Order: sequence, then structure tokens, then C-alpha cells
Amino acid sequence: MTAGLPVPMGLLAELTHRCPLGCPYCSNPVELERKSDELDLATWSRVFREAAALGILQLHLSGGEPAARRDLTEIVAAARSANLYSNLITSGVGLPAGKLAALADAGLDHVQLSIQDAEAQSADRIAGFAGAAARKRELAREAVAIGLPLTVNAVIHRANIERIGALVELAIAWGARRVEIAHVQYHGWAERNRAQLMPTEEQVAPALQELARLRETYREEIVIDAVVPDYFARYPKPCVGGWGRRSINISPSGLALPCHAAQTIPGLEFWSVRTHALAEIWAHSPAFEAFRGTSWMEEPCVQCPRRETDFGGCRCQAFALAGRAEAADPVCHLSPLHARVAELREEQAETAYEARGHRAARSTSLARAANPLR
Ligand code: SF4
Ligand code: FES
Repeated sequence: MTAGLPVPMGLLAELTHRCPLGCPYCSNPVELERKSDELDLATWSRVFREAAALGILQLHLSGGEPAARRDLTEIVAAARSANLYSNLITSGVGLPAGKLAALADAGLDHVQLSIQDAEAQSADRIAGFAGAAARKRELAREAVAIGLPLTVNAVIHRANIERIGALVELAIAWGARRVEIAHVQYHGWAERNRAQLMPTEEQVAPALQELARLRETYREEIVIDAVVPDYFARYPKPCVGGWGRRSINISPSGLALPCHAAQTIPGLEFWSVRTHALAEIWAHSPAFEAFRGTSWMEEPCVQCPRRETDFGGCRCQAFALAGRAEAADPVCHLSPLHARVAELREEQAETAYEARGHRAARSTSLARAANPLR
């Protein structure tokens, strides 16, 4: 390890971009990678060993839907053999009954299940998949029955923000230990659907009050992770814990990314785990070095006392809104471009979502049939 470099804590392995769902805020890139380009089991196994040697403790198995990988059990076993704590991030669709138990036997440590809404009909409509909500409930039941710790993750936007209380109560009823109330981040597919997803000011204020009440009411029952939605905050968040400080994303084809949306920033050079060892990527990849630390910052971040707290916010959001990734995240009220955020908050549309494409082939017609917005 190069002296002075931070030690990464987490590796997010995007095993595939294939997914039966079509959520309008999907964090996958708009140009999805193909099955034929996905890393094989042997390469993932090597990457897991390299991650552990680098000091990484937690492995997040993500997608798309990781269950689309036929070798998921072997991938989990490879994570266990590398001594990584493994978390499966799943939509719950595509994991047949009994699969979760097989994954637990192979060494899976934790499940994070995404839900789209507390009302099944609305949840299926947002996911673009008839019956998705029922399958998620079943997966939660299975996880709790076999003793796997369960986190429920709900992405919040205009269509479900008024049911935050019901979402938290659903997570409790399903036996989750933690619930993440995650507001949409407007990159990729979500940027395309921003006007349809953006909550109104009148929705956000009561939702924040409701969260405070829920935390108080259920503090013995569940951990509630939630933050103020970006476009309504005074300060940005330290996106990914600071660029090149805490985590590494690996795309299905093996590109090592500092964050899931890094490819939206033009001009960055990403190295692949096919051709470079993970330690070499972490220390020397031009993409990881580009915004590590604070030396790349401009005013007002350069002199700001928060520069090592939020690291200037999100580089991808800075590029999307300011046109330059070195700029302060315009979500910050100190940014000279902050007024643009207020303008975008007001841009609301009731038109159909643009659904993400490139689903798993067998699910496409069902998903389309389930979503009247398509
Ligand atoms: Fe963060 Fe920069 Fe805003 Fe300071 S000026 S709070 S460092 S984004
Ligand atoms: Fe890329 Fe925030 S999503 S830095």
C-alpha cells in the first residue's frame, strides 16, 4: 500500500447489468454493459482476494439484479473464501424459493432488499414488473426464516414520498433490522426522469418531519438511515465518502470506478481489473487520482471549513449541473450555481417515465405488460 493512501472499506461488485425490473431511477449507466462482456467467476474470485489483501472488509454484490448470474452461489462462496463480509443487493425478483438458503450456506452474510412502495400496485408500477412486490415480501420472509440479517432499501421520489411512514412500517413488519430511505440521485436514468421523479417542496417538508417522528417511535425496533434529499439540502453530502477514499465499484465488464456514475464524467481514464491488480488501480488509476483529496478543488471549496467533511459534494452532480466536475456541487448553497438547483426543483412533469432498457430477455414482455406508463 502506498504511504498516505486511504484504505478502502468496501467493494461494490456490479455482477451484471441485466435486470427484470425497469425502475426509472436505476443507478446503472444509460449505456448498459452486455452479458457477453461480464467478468467470469475466476476473475471475480481473484478480485475478491485482491480486495481483501488491500484491506477491504465489505463486499456488496450488486447489479442490475445479481440473481441473473447463474454462478451467484459460487461467487458468494468465493467471497467467503476471501474472508469478505458479503451483502447481496437484490430486487428479490429472480431468486427462486430456496436460493437464498443456498447462498447463506455458501457464506452470504447479509441481504439488502429494494422496495419501490408500500402499496403493492404502485410498487409494481414503479418497478415495471407485475407481482414484484409479492416476490419481495416472500424473499424477506425467507431471509428472516433462515436468520440472514435484512436491510430494506426504499428509493424515495414524488410517487412514494408521502408513504415514508408506511414504508418504514412495512420494513418492520417484514423483520428488517435496518431501513434505508434513499432519495433519488439524479444521474443516468434518473436524470432523464428528473422532472417526473422530483418531489415538491410541499411533500419534502412533511416527509422530513415524519422521519423524525418515525425515528423516535421505532428507535427500539429498527435503524432508520435517511438524509435530506439533495436538491432540498443546504450542503451536499460527501458522495461515496469522498472520491477514492472509501470504496471501489467494479462494472460487470471489469472497469474500476470511483463511483457508480463516474462514467458520466468525460475524459476520465478507467483501468480494468482484467489488466491491472486492484491495489495498482487504487493507488495509480488516473480516474481514482483525479478527485482524491482536496488539491483539485476550486473556490468556494478551497477555503471552506467543510472541504474535508463533504469533499465538495458529488463530482458527477457537479459535472451534470455545472458542466465541470471540479466545480463545487451546485447543491451547496455556497455554489455560485446554486440557483440552478432551485430552478430544477420547480421543473415537474406528469408524463411517463423513460424506463431503463436492456432487461433480462425472459422478463421483458411481462414487465411491459405490467407498466401502463410504458
Ligand atoms: Fe462543501 Fe464546497 Fe460547499 Fe464548502 S463550498 S460546503 S466544501 S461544496
Ligand atoms: Fe459520482 Fe457522486 S455519483 S461522485
